Order: sequence, then C-alpha cells, then structure tokens
Amino acid sequence: MTKTSARSVLLVIGGGIAAYKTLELIRLLKGRGIGVRAILTRAGEQFVTPLSVAALTGEKVYSDLFSLTDEAEMGHIELSRAADLVVVAPATADLMARMAQGLANDLAATALLATDKPVLIAPAMNVRMWLHPATQRNLARLLADGVRVIGPDEGDMACGEFGPGRMAEPAAIAVAIDEALAPAEGMKLLTGDAPRPLRGRKVLITAGPTREAIDPVRYISNHSSGKQGYALAAAAVALGAEVVLVSGPVSLPIPPGAQMVPVESAAQMMAAVSRELPADIAIFTAAVADWRVAQRADEKIKKGGKAPPTLTLAENPDILKTVATLKSGRPKLVVGFAAETERVVAHAQEKLTRKGADLIIANDVSPEGGVFGGDRNTVHLVSKAGVEDWPNLSKAEVARRLMDRLAGTLAETA
Ligand code: PMT
Repeated sequence: MTKTSARSVLLVIGGGIAAYKTLELIRLLKGRGIGVRAILTRAGEQFVTPLSVAALTGEKVYSDLFSLTDEAEMGHIELSRAADLVVVAPATADLMARMAQGLANDLAATALLATDKPVLIAPAMNVRMWLHPATQRNLARLLADGVRVIGPDEGDMACGEFGPGRMAEPAAIAVAIDEALAPAEGMKLLTGDAPRPLRGRKVLITAGPTREAIDPVRYISNHSSGKQGYALAAAAVALGAEVVLVSGPVSLPIPPGAQMVPVESAAQMMAAVSRELPADIAIFTAAVADWRVAQRADEKIKKGGKAPPTLTLAENPDILKTVATLKSGRPKLVVGFAAETERVVAHAQEKLTRKGADLIIANDVSPEGGVFGGDRNTVHLVSKAGVEDWPNLSKAEVARRLMDRLAGTLAETA
C-alpha cells in the first residue's frame, strides 16, 4: 500500500459483469488519495484480469488463500486489517451468502470474516436473484451485523431484465467510501462511539413515493426512490433515536436499527403516521401523491374499443399539514420537504406558512438535477428565521447535517 495514503481500502472484487466498473472505482479512489489493495476472487478473474487491477492499484493483487509467498509477505489476517475499510464490489449473491453464513472458503471470505474493520458492500446481480427471499434474508443478516450497503440501482441489466440489481455507479460508491472513511464523523458512526443526543427520543420519518390505484394493476405514482428519507432514518439511528420509517414502495434496504412500516397509498401513509404518534420529531420526506383516483375500479379497466376512460381525482389528506396543526400531541419539531421545479425557495416559504411546519427543506426536482433517485441533493433550509442555502452534498451528508441540526434545536427547546 502506498505509504503516503492516509486512508486505505481493501477492495474485494467478486465475480459479476459489474466487475469492470470496479476498475473505474479504483481510479476514482486513487484520485482521492485513497490507497487500494485488492483481492480478486476466482470468479472475479473471469471478468477482470489481475494485471489490470494491479496496474490501477499499483499493488500486488491477492487471490489465493494458500499462497506461501503471500503468507510470507502479508498473511490473510493482516491483509484484512491493514486497511481502514473493506469494500466488496461487486458483491455477488454468492459472496453475500458466504458473508452472511460466516464461511471462510476462499481468501475473500476469510478476509471478510477475519476483519475488524467496517465493511461496505455494493451488491450486483440479476433482479430475480436480488429479490429472492434467500438473498433478502442474507441482506438482512448482513445489515444486522453492521455491514453498510450501497445500491443496488434499478435499471436495464446485462442479462436483459429490468429492475433492482445493477451495481451502484462507481462515483456513488466512491462517495460512500469517502463518507465511511471520514475521520471524525464517519468513523465514529461506524464504530458506534458517536455521541447519542437523540437517545430516548422518537423520530418519525415518511419516505418514498405513494401509489394511488387506478384499478388492480395500474397506479399513479412518482419518481421518489426513498433515498433521502432512508438516509435521514440512518442518521437518526446513529444519533441514538428510536426511528420509525413509514415508507412507500422502494427497493432500499431498511436502515439497521430503524423500524420500517410499509405502506402504498397516501391514505395508508396517513393512517400509519397517526398510529405512530406521538413522536419528538416528525420529518416528511415522502413524495405523497396529492390526488387519488376517486373511484378505483375493482377489475382491470378494459380497452374494448371504447373511448379512453376519464379519471376523476379526489384530494388526498395532507399528512404534513395534519400533523403540524394538531392541537394536542404535535411533535416538538415538524419538518417538511418541498419538491419544486421553479421558484424553489418562494414556494417553500409559502408551504412553511400554509402547512404549519417548523422547517421546510426545499429542493429542486427538475429532471436535469437528478435529485429524484440520485445520490446527491442541494437543499435550502426555510424557516421563519430565514433561508439557509447548503452546498451540493450527498443525501447521506444532508441527512447527517440535518439530524445534527434538529438534535441541537430539540435540546435547546427542551
Ligand atoms: O426519494 P428520493 O429519490 O431520495 O428524492 C427525495 C425527494 C425529492 C422525494 C425529497 O427530497 C422531497 O423533496 N420530498 C418531498 C416531496 C413532496 O411531496 O414535496 P411537496 O412539495 O409536494 O410536498 C410538501 C411536503 O408536504 C412534503 O414534506 C410532503 O411529504 C408533504 N405532503 C405532501 C402531500 C400530502 N398529501 N401529504 C404530505 O405530507
């Protein structure tokens, strides 16, 4: 490992088509001054060569558990502990299963079992394999074991199918690695010795889209991925809060330590939020459909040569406004988000007053900004005190800063 690298990762490259993206990840990490040493699994060698990995890392590439040369140079135990973070990319279904089981049947699995460092995995596999109950069980086990997960993304896959399973983009993985390696905040969160200003407090968060049924097979929805809301839940857990995440349909792992209540429609989200009150802080990140179809058809609407049907819409309950204007049992802090495509701050100021929130986080969701579904966000904090503009940050960083801020405000008002 380059002696000058203040931060270093051990990169385990699994055997999946996404392994080629890992070469770009190495380049990005090196560009950030992060030292990279790699373990290439036997399956991984089918997709990238040891030579290309060695050329990019500038380091010997490890693959054999029983290589006497490797053991003489650096044993597998030391290999697993010399880095600050272990990253598995791509994390195949097989590697995840072996990690979840605690197997040590090759160098990668042994290093992962022997490490005393935080582990971040970037899953990549066929959509059916990802959604299979066995993989989801393994994922839940790994999350419970404290493993961090980035992705997978949803999209067209090499196998021709569509859905969640694509490895997160190298740039997004690099940001996650940066955050995990951040000396102060990041490592404290990972090792669990961070201050816990929200211990004993309940934080209620809504996230993701809602789906409003047209008939049993069709619905109205939007592009929310849930990433911002889930990041807030993770940040609130890290500060010691009891976290309830009322979530519309998304394909994200539940942040370890948070309780997730799954819902589909705005009406279900309203009911779940009401059930979960009282709370100290309520944050409304969900992109709730403002309208539902007034008369949901019980059977699939047929074309049958007739004129296209006309959908009559009815207004959904405004969950944020309902909670913010509660006469009794109102959370001490009520925070809304404002998704705007023009006059972002002006519309957010209007929502602050109309909905009765303490704080509105305004963000521009114009398609070219990539906020819906993306990993980064540029937010403006709008309150009665004024407007505070934050720089473009990862959603995880927005979440951490926001939760820190809310924890501080709550402490002041207590
Ligand atoms: O999920 P991601 O892909 O990470 O994207 C994040 C995000 C863009 C969804 C998020 O940052 C965001 O802006 N969330 C709010 C989306 C929204 O519905 O905004 P709005 O301006 O339409 O609503 C204002 C506020 O009222 C929001 O807090 C919303 O949750 C709430 N609301 C809206 C309608 C309704 N019926 N009930 C509500 O509670």
